[in-house]
Amino acid sequence: AATTLHEAETATISQGVVESNHAGFTGTGFVNYDNVAGSSVEWTTDSPQARQVRLVLRYANGTTADRPMSITLNGTTIAANLSFPGTGAWTTWRTVTLQASLVAGPNTVKATATTANGGPNVDSLTVDDGTSTGTDWS
Ligand code: GCU
Repeated sequence: AATTLHEAETATISQGVVESNHAGFTGTGFVNYDNVAGSSVEWTTDSPQARQVRLVLRYANGTTADRPMSITLNGTTIAANLSFPGTGAWTTWRTVTLQASLVAGPNTVKATATTANGGPNVDSLTVDDGTSTGTDWS
């Protein structure tokens, strides 16, 4: 498949809770990160081969303060302080995208809050290899 959607509520959550009180999420809910640095969500995504993809994180941030997170791939930091700016409301969901080079087999993607406010509310991670549109990411 060109895109694979991984819900946050079925990922590995550290210092966060699954909630469903702000509409617009996919699946059964979203992760409300605890308001502490170090709170995290970790997904595992299987790749049929080594390939470059886009990682699309869907989130909401109803505050006016950025909720930056560090993103690691298989334990290596690929974005140290990725910005998750305010979306205007907890029911307004937007995406942040970054590129990553997956290895064949299971890959872990972890999004960890870097400030005392914790992360935004996170709905999902989508892995997009670009093949559905014919776009060449390279
Ligand atoms: C509110 C909101 C939560 C959010 C939290 C926060 O409590 O209802 O969904 O996670 O603020 O600031 O992190």
